[in-house]
Amino acid sequence: MSVPPPVAPRINPSILSADFVNMQSELARIAAADFVHVDVMDNHFVPNLTFGPQMVGRVQDTSPIPLDVHLMIADPERWAPGYAELGAASVTFHLEAATEPIALARRLRDIGARAGVAVKPGTPVDELFDLFGEVDQMLVMTVEPGFGGQAFMPETMPKLRRLADEARRRGSEVWLQVDGGISESTIAQAAEAGADTFVAGSAVFGSAHPDAAIAALRSLAAAHTH
Ligand code: DX5
Ligand code: ZN
Repeated sequence: MSVPPPVAPRINPSILSADFVNMQSELARIAAADFVHVDVMDNHFVPNLTFGPQMVGRVQDTSPIPLDVHLMIADPERWAPGYAELGAASVTFHLEAATEPIALARRLRDIGARAGVAVKPGTPVDELFDLFGEVDQMLVMTVEPGFGGQAFMPETMPKLRRLADEARRRGSEVWLQVDGGISESTIAQAAEAGADTFVAGSAVFGSAHPDAAIAALRSLAAAHTH
């Protein structure tokens, strides 16, 4: 990437909670964001449908902020490389949906994207251990994927802590992302458990002052990072 990646803690607002018909002005409201989190859902891997490559391509072309694409889709081997090819800075697929996660991560990196892998709340993080060194980001979902505005699941924190310990033990530079129910009242526990990259949808776009909400989340996360 030509632009150096932003330093932790990173705050990635999810446009799932933005006004879809005013995307350009919604993006202008989050100038303080590190990445724009784009939730791609296929009504199959999750029971909801959002954007496809054409829409994400338009966001990519118009966004001043790099894209963090989160693919909640079946058959990522078929679809994920296309999102990297349209220029997304980061492309994350779900481990539960992938048949060849290492090969897919290598393909994404070859195209020039950061490669990410996500797990749902019920998937043990041990299943990610083979991917250290192969991915740039690991996402521990803190809600069941599919919808914005759900309650944070604190029971996912032991998993995150275990993953962070393992990353530290291996000297890994992988980014640890959390997504779902992140707000000013939950971000501290995720930061304490080891997250360095935070997705927030409703907490940012539901605010009258999204950039102030981003700043507040960032300072809370920084205060609870160790
Ligand atoms: C959920 C999505 C999230 C969602 C987060 O399936 O992956 O990115 O937009 O929204 P909040 O922050 O409202 O939980
Ligand atoms: Zn997401």
